[in-house]
Amino acid sequence: MKISPLAPAIGGRIEGCDLTQTLEATQIRQIQKAFLEHAVLLFPGQTLAHQDQLNAARIFGESGTLHRPREFQPKAYESLPDGIMMISNIREDGVPIGSLPDGEMMFHHDMIHREIPDKATLLYAVEIPSVGGDTWFASGYAAYDTLSDKWKRRLEGLSARHVYHYGSTQKGDEKGTPAFGEAAHPIVRTNHETGRKCLYVNRLMTVGVVGLEATESDEILNFLFDHCEQDAFVYKHQWTIGDLIVWDNRCSMHARTDFPGGERRLLFRTTVKDTQAPA
Ligand SMILES: [Fe+2]
Repeated sequence: MKISPLAPAIGGRIEGCDLTQTLEATQIRQIQKAFLEHAVLLFPGQTLAHQDQLNAARIFGESGTLHRPREFQPKAYESLPDGIMMISNIREDGVPIGSLPDGEMMFHHDMIHREIPDKATLLYAVEIPSVGGDTWFASGYAAYDTLSDKWKRRLEGLSARHVYHYGSTQKGDEKGTPAFGEAAHPIVRTNHETGRKCLYVNRLMTVGVVGLEATESDEILNFLFDHCEQDAFVYKHQWTIGDLIVWDNRCSMHARTDFPGGERRLLFRTTVKDTQAPA
């Protein structure tokens, strides 16, 4: 097994690891260590059954609870085991078979609108469009580390509110749908497994700083959104069929680029629970 960096600030590539096989304890420890170090791990060239993907998730912790989009296409889910969700724009009888079907998606942390957001997400690429639909990952550690001391002091003790409207991929596209969930978390959190501080706000779901007037809250958040999305902190992943990527939602955020609506895109998603609320 060989581990190499994908980009200066975030991401590691793992070669020589077949996730359909039972891994040795030393390999599992190496992967866990690399996960904490790189925040995003790419395992290229996999051929995974659903159970293999669920087993891969177990390397990182306990399987998360998925909220399946029953109203989308219940038939499509009949063949899927619990714990596997589809991200897809493929339509059957005009209805998407999976979640978050179309277009660009702003930077976000999965499940930040929950009291205890998921620790990790795993995405496995089965069908990808000829162009676009890339996933960008940004390091929350790099974003925090590069803040000025003045900004670090200003953010001390501040929390932000995060809201998710079902199916939203852009801020403001909720169109009156009720919030799917809402939570407040520290703007600077510490990843309890690494002890490192990271910036924990995102453009898609963060709506305000707790206790501040809108003007000051907007000023702070707009600065932070631009700061944490800088190219220097980002790894831009172009998917290849057979890629499995696992990312740490505590210290990284991700975004999706646009892709042609007429082309099929299908990825399977599994999640891993965290053991404590952000602090
Ligand atoms: Fe996501």
